[in-house]
Amino acid sequence: MALSQTDRALVLALWKKMSSNVGIYATEAWERTFAAFPSTKTYFPHLDLSPGSSQVKAHGQKVADALTLAAHHLDDLPGSLSALSDLHAHTLRVDPANFQFFNHCLLVTLARHYPGDFSPKMHASLDKFLGLVTSALVSKYR
Ligand code: HEM
Repeated sequence: MALSQTDRALVLALWKKMSSNVGIYATEAWERTFAAFPSTKTYFPHLDLSPGSSQVKAHGQKVADALTLAAHHLDDLPGSLSALSDLHAHTLRVDPANFQFFNHCLLVTLARHYPGDFSPKMHASLDKFLGLVTSALVSKYR
């Protein structure tokens, strides 16, 4: 499903508002993912996943940077995420179902921190954006 002009404007507006805090929210989203969907933890046996862990924070920042890159390349998500797609499909072999868990937890996190911005339209646009990021990241599974 392609992003409409309204979707793009809403996603970019929230990203602008989040400014340099995207890493904080991505970290909270990972903490929620590990708590609400514990099976996701099996992909990170080498990291300290306890609440407040600096390793989860560092991972959250990396994922945030990838999402920020994607938000600024809405016309070419597969191209901008190509290397990450290789990593998740071929090296990490993350089951695609896990992306739904993380996306859900990121939406919950953003709704919590930006309640005034999180209209049904904003919700729908972010959901579409994360869905397209997921499609790009799982495009190399076979
Ligand atoms: C690593 C992005 C979803 C598992 C990474 C890295 C990025 C990234 C940028 C670091 C790559 C590097 O260091 O070169 C994303 C994005 C996601 C996503 C944008 C969705 C929006 C997931 C999901 C899982 C997962 C759902 C599994 C539950 C991993 C693992 C690593 C990794 C295991 C390696 C961690 C490490 O060893 O430090 N991801 N990821 N990712 N990702 Fe993802």
